Amino acid sequence: MSTTNCSFLIIVLVLAISSSFCTIFALEDYKKGSVNTTVHVINGLPKSSDSVNVRCSSKHTDLGMYTLKEGEEYKWVAEEKAVYFCDAIWGARFFASWHAFQPKRDLVHSGGGSVFWLVKKDGFFLSWDNSTWVKKSTWETE
Ligand SMILES: *[C@@H]1O[C@H](CO)[C@@H](O)[C@H](O)[C@H]1NC(C)=O
Ligand SMILES: *[C@@H]1O[C@H](CO)[C@@H](O)[C@H](O)[C@H]1NC(C)=O
Repeated sequence: MSTTNCSFLIIVLVLAISSSFCTIFALEDYKKGSVNTTVHVINGLPKSSDSVNVRCSSKHTDLGMYTLKEGEEYKWVAEEKAVYFCDAIWGARFFASWHAFQPKRDLVHSGGGSVFWLVKKDGFFLSWDNSTWVKKSTWETE
């Protein structure tokens, strides 16, 4: 075998090995079932309303408390193929809990891209395109 052939063989081998490593990593991702869907929670409450305290989590992830001011948008990424729910407290009287990301419901419609929630006085509205809204949940009082 000539030297040229041998270097060629080495290059092919290196490529083959690195591509199988990549395949293994891709498989790991697939097993973890990562989805990376961006969830937008938009505050559409009336002007000069109190802020809303939102806390979103899944079984394995707690995204912590976020204070959502009037007109503001809270964005986070659902990384696991799991249900994420959010709790919200508005002022001293209103509270709510809703499924912000639900793989079965959202992955087909959003194509894995984005899920939008509009928070209004009369409830929580879901959209996958940021323009058509469907009411899914309401505020509760004690
Ligand atoms: C999701 O994000 C993680 C971390 O950035 C990345 O490793 C993974 O490949 C992504 N998965 C998808 C399906 O985009
Ligand atoms: C969603 O729509 C609102 C109002 O039309 C716009 O201000 C906002 O930028 C949009 N957000 C995204 C992420 O497209």
